[in-house]
Amino acid sequence: MHTIFYVVKLIPSTLSPIMSLAGNISLCCLILQLLSINSVVCVEMKEFHPEERDALLLLRDSVSSDADLHSNWTGPPCIVNRSRWKGITCSNWHVISIDLEGINVVGSLPPMFLQNITFLKQLNLRSNSISGMLPNLTNLVILEQVLLSYNHFTGHIPAEYVELPSLRSLELEENYLEGQIPDFDQPLLTAFNVSYNHLSGPIPETNVLLRFPKSSFDDNSDLCGKPLDKLCPAPPPAPSSAPSPQIIAPSPGEETKKKKLQVWTIALIAAAGGLLLLLLCIAFMFCKKRKRGEEKTRNESAAYTFGVWAQKMSFPERAEDSERLGQLQFFNKELPVFDLDDLLRASAEVLGKGNLGATYKATLETGTVVAVKKLDSMNELSKREFLQQMQLLGKIKHENLVEIISFYYSENEKLVIYEFISDGTLFELLHENRGAGRVPLDWATRMSIIKDIAKGLAFLHNSLSSHKGLHANLKSPNVLIHQHSQGCHSKLTDFGFLPLLSSRKCAEMLAISRSPEFAQGKRITQQADVYCFGIILLEIITGKVPGETLGEDMEEATSDLSEWVRMVVYNDWSTDILDMEILAAKEAHDAMLQLTELALECTDMTPENRPKINQVLRKIEEIEQMKGEND
Ligand SMILES: *[C@@H]1O[C@H](CO)[C@@H](O)[C@H](O)[C@H]1NC(C)=O
Ligand SMILES: *[C@@H]1O[C@H](CO)[C@@H](O)[C@H](O)[C@H]1NC(C)=O
Repeated sequence: MHTIFYVVKLIPSTLSPIMSLAGNISLCCLILQLLSINSVVCVEMKEFHPEERDALLLLRDSVSSDADLHSNWTGPPCIVNRSRWKGITCSNWHVISIDLEGINVVGSLPPMFLQNITFLKQLNLRSNSISGMLPNLTNLVILEQVLLSYNHFTGHIPAEYVELPSLRSLELEENYLEGQIPDFDQPLLTAFNVSYNHLSGPIPETNVLLRFPKSSFDDNSDLCGKPLDKLCPAPPPAPSSAPSPQIIAPSPGEETKKKKLQVWTIALIAAAGGLLLLLLCIAFMFCKKRKRGEEKTRNESAAYTFGVWAQKMSFPERAEDSERLGQLQFFNKELPVFDLDDLLRASAEVLGKGNLGATYKATLETGTVVAVKKLDSMNELSKREFLQQMQLLGKIKHENLVEIISFYYSENEKLVIYEFISDGTLFELLHENRGAGRVPLDWATRMSIIKDIAKGLAFLHNSLSSHKGLHANLKSPNVLIHQHSQGCHSKLTDFGFLPLLSSRKCAEMLAISRSPEFAQGKRITQQADVYCFGIILLEIITGKVPGETLGEDMEEATSDLSEWVRMVVYNDWSTDILDMEILAAKEAHDAMLQLTELALECTDMTPENRPKINQVLRKIEEIEQMKGEND
């Protein structure tokens, strides 16, 4: 079996699309015969289902994990009833179970990847760090177990889950799901748990859902209904229901006297209660007013301390009112929560000064380390605008985007608190310590960084509307690098600020202002990000800093990296542009030049001519694969 795949790799890449489309014995044999390779037993391929394999490879390539799926998920997933793939179970050549519980899977699932695994009975991805939407499960008519609890899934529970006819267990607890619970009513459903999410609305009173206990629904934002002993707000009162006749309408006899007495007592108690309530209200409002006064002085002092912080890089002063939690707004319930006071007491060092403001590394007394960005240029911003955009950005969770932990708003200070990524930026990695003593940045690492950036950007573009989902400030200092034993992991930061900038003048501070359409005063779309991506790509390939004077041999030194590259490439398609540090990796020259070509497409003057980020990502993956085949 293994040999077959090895042979497939040898087939020129022009043939491989046909192969994967067909995946069928006769064509396979035909091609192999054409290539006169006779040592392969084709018959064994007969029952191989390439669409299931493709689906799993899509999953493999979209996520990272502690298990080395990349080297393990190779060859055919199923051999009759056996599988050599970790976590995969087969029956009669079909994949029937995917079990990747607790192996630290990070990333989001490809949206439709399961649709072709039509014999799937069990999907177990419990206890990982998977983000993004829940997978689409339409077509999976024999699927019984869907175990996705203890992850970072966001979005709604897809309505089509109620149409899974064989569903027995649905475990979604401990995620970030929101919206309402669909009307599950599958008779076989015997295990169901959606606790610890952000679900809201009434729990549907289907026969099936009423079977499950309170703990299946606990700890959500705003669920109501029978299992929780929390009544849903009554529907608007029916106009016909008259006040209770027993009390109002008098009827003769002693009974009535008693009742009249009751009415009086009730009225009296009500009046007293009302008075008390009124007093309480007045007292409360009075307190609140005073408190607001306090709040104001406190905010001012916070602003002041932050000023000191910025200058002295430390935060010695202690805010007075320490029992009251600061107005930091948090997104992730798992992270240790801290308040403004903690932040003010943290030790801080400047990480960098961007156009929008400085970023600090803050080490709290508890040892938690966060990055704090102090936004300088947004003072006219209303709280509502800021809140809305932050709430939107805070929900975005992807392995290639820096997570926003919380934010702070006051009139004078706006802070965004991010997870701290330790190992510097792409800019530093590429351009710092050039010369003696520098550790060169090899091609494989550069390739992985390129892919990470494209993945992060694609997620941003796909998950938000075009205006709000602009990165808008994509440049190498905003690509943060985390180095680990297997290489680099990159995350984009500083995204999503364009809607918060009031004027064009402010927007000039962002990377998108380098795009031709910005210079021409045209509408900015996500394609401006693609332009910026193209520039980063060129920066990684050439090792040059965009904006610096380039190419002394040219009559007019151009400041635009893409123009320079275009010129070199136009004059003589060559490796002259490549960074010295990667020149030695001859086997990858093809890939580098193809990526250069892609970068030039991305930096096309006309936004409409640039590829969309999803196409860019696909192309990068193809180029990467091609390299694999040449190995
Ligand atoms: C994948 O890993 C499993 C166990 O972890 C092992 O039994 C199997 O042989 C590996 N498969 C391949 C193709 O390396
Ligand atoms: C649902 O999940 C929560 C959280 O893990 C757990 O405490 C609870 O017992 C579960 N309830 C049921 C009915 O399984």
